[in-house]
Amino acid sequence: MSDTRPRRSALYVPGSNSRAREKAKGLPVDAVIFDLEDSVADEVKRRARDEVVATIKGGGFGSREIVMRVNPARTEFFEDDMTAAVNAQPNAVLLSKVESTAEIFAAERHLRGRPETQGITLWAMVETARGLIDIAGIAASVRKPEGHRLRGLVLGTNDIIRETGVKAGGDRTPVLPWLSMAVLAARAEGLFVLDGVYNDFEDIKGFEAECIQGRALGMDGKTIIHPKQIEIANRTFAPSADEIAEAEEIIEAFARPENAERGVISINGRMVERMHERMARRTLALAEQIAVS
Ligand code: COA
Ligand code: MG
Repeated sequence: MSDTRPRRSALYVPGSNSRAREKAKGLPVDAVIFDLEDSVADEVKRRARDEVVATIKGGGFGSREIVMRVNPARTEFFEDDMTAAVNAQPNAVLLSKVESTAEIFAAERHLRGRPETQGITLWAMVETARGLIDIAGIAASVRKPEGHRLRGLVLGTNDIIRETGVKAGGDRTPVLPWLSMAVLAARAEGLFVLDGVYNDFEDIKGFEAECIQGRALGMDGKTIIHPKQIEIANRTFAPSADEIAEAEEIIEAFARPENAERGVISINGRMVERMHERMARRTLALAEQIAVS
């Protein structure tokens, strides 16, 4: 399983938008993703890159996880974006439009052998047909020494919908198989997985429904685009009061002396196994982290 750091809400901030970069310091998100890719026009890429480096180095983001989204490895911007990441030292670099393990390894080449980059992790966006077809292979790159920094997968649903031509509609029916593949690929390798964005930020009800759906699919959190989406993402992807109470009950039950050597017990007429105890510990660890963040 991935770490228990909460990633309920991961807010994209266009790298070129100084007001939004500053605003992010006060927003209650788990992660801030400074974007150098699709939200930044080619003409201002260089300036946005420099400004994002300065913003990250300037600090002031508290316990928020700081992420830099770089342009795809096959673009002219990638090398300079990675050099900037080494300089800025975010918590993670989010690689965009990943289609192969080679791209994860290309990012690693920039980071390895430098003591100052030791703590930087890699997140991979999967948002193209090719990437989705090989998503298990991309996730499995974490088993290779050159892929060891990989921690999570991030869905790019806008790109997926655009490239494939599906009509996603309100309930995302056509993309659900791909979202589920992403969850499987992540879980097979112990990675976290974040759901794609909801564009209509004024439609709070629609956003909430999509968060609930994402959580049911197994997502760890939601990538978001606007401050109005923070509260619902944080609430939906946090363990609920009922889930916390149930987790406590399971741990207490297994802790009783008479259950010390039992692998399976019954609580209120339901079968509970040791795996549920492990899940319960994870739920409580996540809830604790959320409480202190
Ligand atoms: N991060 C930080 N602050 C943001 C923000 C974001 N992503 N989106 C909006 N805000 C701030 C605005 O700066 C504004 O702050 P202010 O009142 O202090 O001026 C406030 O929230 C309200 O914003 P609003 O006027 O409703 O929205 P907007 O018209 O300024 O921006 C978008 C709308 C969609 C352009 C903007 O939300 C955005 O750029 N989102 C991220 C897009 C992105 O990164 N896409 C790539 C990945 S999918
Ligand atoms: Mg994209």
